[in-house]
Amino acid sequence: MYNNIEVKEESSLATITINRPSKLNALNKDTIKELHDAFKAMDKDKNIKAIILTGSGEKAFVAGADISEFANFSVKEGGKLAAKGQKLLFDFVEGLSTPVIAAVNGFALGGGLELAMSCHFRVASDNARMGLPEVSLGVIPGYGGTQRLPQLVGKGIAMEMIMTAGMIDANRAHETGLVNHVVSQEELLDFCKKLGSKISNNSSVAISHAIKAVNAGFKHDSNGYAAEIKAFGECFGTADFEEGTTAFLEKRKADFPGK
Ligand code: COA
Repeated sequence: MYNNIEVKEESSLATITINRPSKLNALNKDTIKELHDAFKAMDKDKNIKAIILTGSGEKAFVAGADISEFANFSVKEGGKLAAKGQKLLFDFVEGLSTPVIAAVNGFALGGGLELAMSCHFRVASDNARMGLPEVSLGVIPGYGGTQRLPQLVGKGIAMEMIMTAGMIDANRAHETGLVNHVVSQEELLDFCKKLGSKISNNSSVAISHAIKAVNAGFKHDSNGYAAEIKAFGECFGTADFEEGTTAFLEKRKADFPGK
């Protein structure tokens, strides 16, 4: 069904693997479209409570947007490339109701780091290297990198990373808050699956409301506190809330009906 990615489902978790190792999993047009379709399908699947995104091979998560596809683009085509990619993949993943964990297993550069930053949080293997090298190519990050990097690491560090086009290692990424954990490459997927299964014990309906409220605080056209009040109120009308509170009062583990 997919040519550039693989999707595996194990109980309540889905793992999406970008599978173009000979191009270090660079994001071409087809891969972006397939990722959109896979995320959409997993989000709709009532059994899937968390999604892990990773790259195939031991070298790269994603080494960037596929440079060979846009090297000859005009001003208009460049603008369209960024707008379409942001809508189809990067904003789409950020706004997904189902939690997405990036398992950064190697190079995450340019569009690769931007994709990892669109995920709800990140875990890196100790060989991972991250950066936004776009200005070394005469362009700037166009898939949300100028916005999401300062949100995660602060404006000064983001400016330095963007201006130098340099790479940081996994430990520095951890120190700056870009990734939440660093583990060995062998442990990476199991570690993310453990986090995913911890997440899957909780109310997926409540989690989807929390994602919306957190994201609202980072958008200039919305008020995060107002979004939180709205999402909080909406939780009271859900079967998950009824089950969660009843289970607590009955001193048993909640069994959430789910999405
Ligand atoms: N777009 C298209 N192809 C890419 C790519 C990208 N972003 N990143 C890597 N590749 C391809 C290479 O062209 C090469 O293909 P080939 O074997 O057909 O020539 C293959 O992946 C392996 O990459 P290579 O450069 O040989 O590996 P390396 O170990 O020497 O270097 C990197 C690894 C990540 C440092 C290097 O590939 C790189 O700098 N990539 C581009 C990173 C970048 O600027 N990304 C931002 C894009 S906006």
